[in-house]
Amino acid sequence: MLRDTLRALPTFPAELPVLDPASVPADPQELFLTWLTDAIDSGERQPTAMTVTTVDTDGRPASRTLIVKDVDERGIHFSSSRTSRKAAHLAARPVATLLFFWRPLGRQVEIDGDAIALDEATSQADWRERPSYDGTDNPDWQVWALQPRRLEFLQATHDRRHVRIEYLRERHGWSHRRLMPSEQAR
Ligand SMILES: Cc1cc2nc3c(=O)[nH]c(=O)nc-3n(C[C@H](O)[C@H](O)[C@H](O)COP(=O)(O)O)c2cc1C
Repeated sequence: MLRDTLRALPTFPAELPVLDPASVPADPQELFLTWLTDAIDSGERQPTAMTVTTVDTDGRPASRTLIVKDVDERGIHFSSSRTSRKAAHLAARPVATLLFFWRPLGRQVEIDGDAIALDEATSQADWRERPSYDGTDNPDWQVWALQPRRLEFLQATHDRRHVRIEYLRERHGWSHRRLMPSEQAR
């Protein structure tokens, strides 16, 4: 039966890293970059793939996989066509949630924030670096940067009491705390 097949599947790898809530950095970008680097070093197939969720004007969510292109002081970059559904969503409601799931490490990061359209030079530079670039610029290409407002880092544990750290942007810098298993995130 499908149900039995699904239940019998292993979930997490035998060895999982440990996340000590007392030793996480004050700046969530530092932790994010460490985890992204760990995912790249783990050899997993597409460590830069993330699920990007946007909403339409009725509040209806839509998700798709995109590649993270860069991380800098402007935010977390992703790119796509200005004629796409996601571009229409972001033009009307410039908010998005990014979700990374790094399977070999049992790690998930959810990042929610405001999406800003970056300048034309950044967009065309990204277009030219794509593997399919044939020498022709694409005026419809756009890079956005997600400026994080809230991040939640989850390190899975075998006892399922996953360690979750929530960061919130404050007027000056960031606050963070551990979310207990039954606790509701903001
Ligand atoms: C692994 C993977 C990576 C992808 N990366 C991108 C990307 O970086 N940019 C992009 O526009 N579409 C990318 N796509 C396609 C998107 O998932 C999506 O189908 C497309 O952008 C249209 O989305 P929309 O109709 O919601 O705007 C990727 C798909 C996969 C499976």
